[in-house]
Amino acid sequence: MKNYTAQTGATLTLDNNGERTTVDLYSREGLDLLSNLWIKSATQHRMMYEPTWLGRPVIQFPTDIVAIQELIWNLRPDVIIETGVAHGGSLVLSASILELIGKGKVIGVDIEIRPHNRAAIEAHPLKHRIELLEGSSISSETIDAVRASVGNAQTVLVFLDSNHTEAHVLEELELYGKLVTLGSYIVAHDGAQAWVWDIPRGVPDWKESHPLGAINKFMKSHPEFSHDPHWTRFGITCSPEGWLKKIA
Ligand SMILES: C[S@@+](CC[C@H](N)C(=O)[O-])C[C@H]1O[C@@H](n2cnc3c(N)ncnc32)[C@H](O)[C@@H]1O
Repeated sequence: MKNYTAQTGATLTLDNNGERTTVDLYSREGLDLLSNLWIKSATQHRMMYEPTWLGRPVIQFPTDIVAIQELIWNLRPDVIIETGVAHGGSLVLSASILELIGKGKVIGVDIEIRPHNRAAIEAHPLKHRIELLEGSSISSETIDAVRASVGNAQTVLVFLDSNHTEAHVLEELELYGKLVTLGSYIVAHDGAQAWVWDIPRGVPDWKESHPLGAINKFMKSHPEFSHDPHWTRFGITCSPEGWLKKIA
């Protein structure tokens, strides 16, 4: 790793094909610019695929993993619903905090749970806190099964991390928002897709369709939810504006 000398008064200049932005490195603006550029560059280098939690890959930035741990520890939920299982790392992360708290379960929903991922999750020491449901997160069969599993749980927390189109996330917010209990949260992950369409490996469609668009639409008609910036205070996140608290 390399260290760059950057003393008081140092500035940071972003040259975007000739369009220049210069800020004081040690100002708040400097930190915001660095954080935003870190998100772009780290996504280019696929850094969200690096972390693992208790042996399973979890597709998140480390700062979001810390925030997820803080949120679960503070809320002490009875049920955590997660759409988007992939390798199961985010389920194991949630299950591990619930295990330390001493109660609760995680319901993981995915349209396709690959056999090797299912086998690894089922062999994990925390499997007793995890339920797997295969199906589209927005199908009526899945929602019915999730509702039945949630039952009368007192505190329900939801993480949305499946299909990241605006239409899909909006539908998930409408369906799963109803299951969130007062004082708890629905976290819509990967709003930063809106910020990385412009990187070399970015996808032009991400500019138009992303979880952030869904969150903005949902929030206009759902005053019972409030955006809580506490959980993205590190500045480095896959999920800007995505941590929504049920306040009424
Ligand atoms: C980004 S990965 C999930 C990452 C995981 N939450 C983590 O943090 O490690 C997205 C997952 O969503 C699943 N998925 C895609 N469309 C879906 C849908 N309509 N319903 C449920 N899951 C879906 C994919 O199969 C994939 O496993």
